[in-house]
Amino acid sequence: MFELFQELEKQAQAEQASSPPAVQNEGSGVLVLSVGGSLFFDEKPLAPQIAKFCESISRLHSEGYKFVLVVGGGKIARGYVSAAKSFGATNYSQDELGIMVTRANAFVFIQALEKAHVHVLASPTEALNVLGAGDIPVFGGLWPSFTTDAVAALVAEAVDGVFVNLTDVDGVYSSDPKRSSNAKFYPEISYEKLLSMVKLSASKPGQNMVLDMPCVNILRRSSIKGIVLNGNDLPNFEAMVRGNEFRGTLVQAPLQEENLEEEQ
Ligand code: UTP
Repeated sequence: MFELFQELEKQAQAEQASSPPAVQNEGSGVLVLSVGGSLFFDEKPLAPQIAKFCESISRLHSEGYKFVLVVGGGKIARGYVSAAKSFGATNYSQDELGIMVTRANAFVFIQALEKAHVHVLASPTEALNVLGAGDIPVFGGLWPSFTTDAVAALVAEAVDGVFVNLTDVDGVYSSDPKRSSNAKFYPEISYEKLLSMVKLSASKPGQNMVLDMPCVNILRRSSIKGIVLNGNDLPNFEAMVRGNEFRGTLVQAPLQEENLEEEQ
């Protein structure tokens, strides 16, 4: 009996090893990573953390996994923007400055990655050529009034990839888990439910949702799979990339039964 169990377990392991990872089956299989600026930039770039993360990306890339990186601003960008604001900069100029800092951050990542394209890209479709050449496209921000999350969603649309948000919490919660111990964690959430939560939090000052409305709208309109997970947990990130079990939130269209439930 015990041997039978052992055999079944071996078979299951073999199937797991040979079955292609789940996210790699989506569209082009490219993972578009929205890299939260606050994970890697404080008053200055956090070089040791950037190095560890980029080593992991370079290793996975050498194994055949395909990535695009969109690097956020973090505290360093907020410092620049608030200084410009204190001198009376318009919202447009504040955004321009924010974009410049995200691009400077992106350029730091380019130096730390083994196979990154040498320039910070300026248009989502440029990513296609860079991916075609076997390199890693890296973006910062692109347009005033956008966020790097929304840019990453558009890039995912352009390359038919999966959107992955690397943040400093484990995924999507009903409220900010850093402020509320009652916050409910969602392993899976529909675009509609997430949109309604984002709208609600936008109406409450000081409530930060992990993704913004333009970003979720782009994911929804093209049914792009979204994953939100903690960028500080590299083994968990690697498990996600390899299609193994991981802790995070999957954002996608609701299952048909859920649709029916909502209609009733
Ligand atoms: P982020 O997208 O990084 O904002 O852009 P964030 O919400 O602070 O995210 P973290 O901290 O990285 O997780 C920083 C700033 O740059 C400008 C905006 O002003 C934004 O607040 N920006 C960025 C744009 O105007 N357009 C873009 O495409 C990207």
